[in-house]
This record gives sequence, C-alpha cells and structure tokens, in this order.
Amino acid sequence: MIKVMFVCLGNICRSPMAEFVLKDMVSIKSSATSYEEIGNDIYGGTRDKLIQKNIPFTKRKATRLTPGDYNKYDFIIGMEEANIRDIKRIVGEDKENKIYKLLDFSNNPRDIADPWYTGNFEITFNDIVEGCNGFLEYLKSNGRISSEE
Ligand code: 4NP
Repeated sequence: MIKVMFVCLGNICRSPMAEFVLKDMVSIKSSATSYEEIGNDIYGGTRDKLIQKNIPFTKRKATRLTPGDYNKYDFIIGMEEANIRDIKRIVGEDKENKIYKLLDFSNNPRDIADPWYTGNFEITFNDIVEGCNGFLEYLKSNGRISSEE
C-alpha cells in the first residue's frame, strides 16, 4: 500500500480536491499547514466543482499535518512552494525524499493557484487532474503500482 498525504494551506480547497480526485483511483488523505480551517468541511467552491465533475466525496473535517505524519506516509505532496516550506517547518528535514509539489509530476512543473484567493476552481481542478495523472504515471513507471486495472 502506498500512502499519500496531500497538503495545502487550509485543507478545504486544493488538497481535499486532490484527495478526492486521486481517491477515485487509489487510497489517499489530505491535511493543512495552517490552523485556520481545522474541523471545517470542504469549501463550497471545491464541493461544487467535484459535483460538476462527478467525483465522489465524503463529509470531512480539515486536519493539520503533524510531525509524525512524515513516518506514516510515503509521499507528502504540497500544492505550491509555500506549502513545501511550511511542510518542512512541521516535519523537519526531508531525509527520505518524500516531499513533492503535485505538479512536479507533470511535464510542466509549477504551483497550483489557491482558489480561496483566485475564485477560479476550474483552473485549480484542471491543474489537480494534471498532477494526479502525472503522479499515477510516475508510480507506474517506477514500478510502485501495476498498470493493469
Ligand atoms: P486551500 O485554500 O489552501 O486550497 O485549502 C485556502 C482555504 C482557506 C484559507 C486559505 C487557503 N484561509 O486562509 O482560511
């Protein structure tokens, strides 16, 4: 079992969107770097986008990444450079090379804009799908998962 933790600032927009998109394919969790939204369900814009794209999701409560998560997960995947800095502040040095940005797995590595600020959940959704597809391709090409259904 490969264990993945997606991380963003609030854990109500991007990282739960990535969680439910990739959960449509494998088993995943997500968390926040900040304390602001702890206990809150996903934001309306993320919920509406998942409904529009027919991605199943469940009621959830935002949680914060913990130092112990570093040992529990094989991949800790942030959405933007600021997340990577904050993740390292929480878990310490990345000794086992587990920390990535989601679009590091795409052909065009870049940050995923925060729709909490941009209001554009469509661009964020498309970036997250691109990143999740790239991540699955990475796992397959590194022999971490079988490419058979
Ligand atoms: P997210 O978006 O990091 O994609 O979940 C945000 C949600 C809430 C806040 C910031 C970003 N906030 O400051 O409360």
